[in-house]
Amino acid sequence: MALSVLSVASEAVPLVKTGGLADVAGALPAAVAPHGVDMVTLLPGYPAVGKAMGKKRLVYKWDSLLGEPARLLSGKIGEHKLLVLDSPTFFARDGGLYTDAQADDWPDNWRRFAALGRAAADIASGATRLRGFDLLHAHDWQAAMALAYLRFASDKPDLPAVMTIHNMAFQGYYEARIFPELGLPAAAWSVDGVESYAGVGFLKAGMQAANVITTVSPTYANEIRQPDFGMGLEGLITMRGDRVRGILNGIDPAVWSPVSDPVIPARYTHKTLAKREKNKRAIEVEFDLDESNGPLFAVISRLTWQKGMDVLPEVLDHLVGIGGRLALLGSGDAVIEKALHEAAARHPGRIGLRIGYDEALSHQLQAGADAILVPSRFEPCGLTQLYGLAYGCVPVVARTGGLSDTVIDANPAALAAEVATGVQFDGVHYHALRAAIDRVIALYHQPRVWRRVQRNGMKADFSWDASGQAYADLYRELTGKTP
Ligand code: ADP
Ligand code: GLC
Repeated sequence: MALSVLSVASEAVPLVKTGGLADVAGALPAAVAPHGVDMVTLLPGYPAVGKAMGKKRLVYKWDSLLGEPARLLSGKIGEHKLLVLDSPTFFARDGGLYTDAQADDWPDNWRRFAALGRAAADIASGATRLRGFDLLHAHDWQAAMALAYLRFASDKPDLPAVMTIHNMAFQGYYEARIFPELGLPAAAWSVDGVESYAGVGFLKAGMQAANVITTVSPTYANEIRQPDFGMGLEGLITMRGDRVRGILNGIDPAVWSPVSDPVIPARYTHKTLAKREKNKRAIEVEFDLDESNGPLFAVISRLTWQKGMDVLPEVLDHLVGIGGRLALLGSGDAVIEKALHEAAARHPGRIGLRIGYDEALSHQLQAGADAILVPSRFEPCGLTQLYGLAYGCVPVVARTGGLSDTVIDANPAALAAEVATGVQFDGVHYHALRAAIDRVIALYHQPRVWRRVQRNGMKADFSWDASGQAYADLYRELTGKTP
């Protein structure tokens, strides 16, 4: 019998996405299936989820889940088995998944995601009418309370559970006054439970209760032992050190493949590098850019401090000055957006901006730009550089987290050994970015070397094969069950 895992996340491709968490939660079931794991994903019942799911079956009802009635629906998207927590007061709202139309966090986020956790613990432990599961796997703070409810308020407190941290910067930290409303026993209010710096820490609670904590790259798993990356939870990570693993994310070939990309029109898919030149022309039209013989940089990113997007505008005069161009797709911080607009106004035809979220355009940029710039201050894994590698869009990345684990810098030794796949730089500040851009321009003007770097990246294996196996091995280790 397959090993059954309940995976709990607040977003998953192809239903709802604000970032890489969705790519990973959406890809995981197919990644572990070949290794004998039957994974079902529990998602909040956002309107988009209900609409996309088609046929659904009511499997359970709660009269009150954190104070609101809720239903559990079961259905499928393709081969992907889903459970959906249908509670309109919590999840059927206009606005973002976590924020209102003004981009402010919903004030009741703690209640919404505590409800998701409570439901997950009920499902995993078999308290709903569904069969129970062998293991509970929660992703990020929004799902983390599942582990606290399982340990402190379920019939199966010993069920194996894994907590995956996709980003330590988002912890779901709330004031102590919410504790009585969580419906947890008094014993949960302790340093071994949900208490964190005299408040309630959702991610902390999940990390404390997990048999194993995973994060999404080996380097980030080490970095979060340091205060700069651990963001207050470095002590807990260090204390639980032997229970912390780094498992690199993969690429879902059904969604991201240069040869058969399902998101963009077939004319942009490519087997050869030559085709990318045509695709570049299409981007130039799309972003109102002049043709030139210099490289076209792409950025596809949340416009935030984490992603180094505050430094990017500073270096754009230089980038343009030495013959580069930029096509940027992103949204986020208003101050950063303003600085980008100012840079674009100084350099018409050289800098093109698309402020917003556009899945198809993100694929098209990977299929046609020369290089993708990822100057993150920290990056648990990072997916855009992986997509760049797969498509032949050379990644130019800060040396941190998953970016350092996945890109091989084009230094003289790596070039001589013909293994280089991109450019790395140390530190996220004007001089580091400027030097990296200079290196890219120099490489780009040696076409044979540049093509070799592109090809090396395209050959690199970032499929889910190895990581799917690693998760399956972990599940097996914790359950003692052979998948
Ligand atoms: P993070 O999850 O921290 O934002 P990742 O690199 O792991 O960073 O994942 C980002 C994901 O979101 C990628 O799939 C990327 O293509 C996508 N993405 C980011 N910004 C945009 C945007 N403005 N439009 C479309 N896709 C975007
Ligand atoms: C987070 C991280 C990113 C990672 C993604 C998927 O959003 O910021 O680095 O790739 O999760 O694990």
